[in-house]
Amino acid sequence: KNIVILISGGGSNMAAIVREAQRGHWGERLGARVAAVVSNRAGAGGLVFAREQGIATAVVDHKAFPSREAFDAALAETIDAHAPALVVLAGFMRILTPGFVERYQRRLLNIHPSLLPAFPGLHTHQRAIDAGCRFGGATVHQVTTELDVGPILEQAVVPILPGDTADALAARVLTQEHLIYPRAIARLLHATG
Ligand code: GRF
Repeated sequence: KNIVILISGGGSNMAAIVREAQRGHWGERLGARVAAVVSNRAGAGGLVFAREQGIATAVVDHKAFPSREAFDAALAETIDAHAPALVVLAGFMRILTPGFVERYQRRLLNIHPSLLPAFPGLHTHQRAIDAGCRFGGATVHQVTTELDVGPILEQAVVPILPGDTADALAARVLTQEHLIYPRAIARLLHATG
């Protein structure tokens, strides 16, 4: 079973998944491997890590396409070259068209840096701090055509401490993301046999 991971930036979640696939012997235990890392930005730092790990990489630059649909079609073509059992959005900062989501439905995951359904959208950490929340967190969910909704697979909760900045909270949440994303993927692959 091939996993294709989509990134836009540093790809720390992608790296955590790749490391757990190696450490957890997903090849032998789950018949699964990270087959490719695809980014919409040529400068995405995560591409360097993927190449160092010997993982196929590709760039589909959204700026090179006249429409969101044209970009998504090119992205799907690049992804399908790897016959994915699972498409994992990890710090992928593009909103995907309903056509794309429906093409990969039930095998399309995302990680969102809040305790969904609270704080869908952007700037989640600052919003949680501003709201006076005592806890923040992250959510791994299946992607549906409605942004940041969809069946929840895993969540992690972290305390919001007095004086926390958004960056401090983001770093605390990111540490947990790196634990729950690999776990959610392994559980899903194990469950689907
Ligand atoms: C993280 O906050 C994650 O929740 C969101 O993108 C941010 C960066 O992720 N999806 P990564 O380091 O690129 O994996």
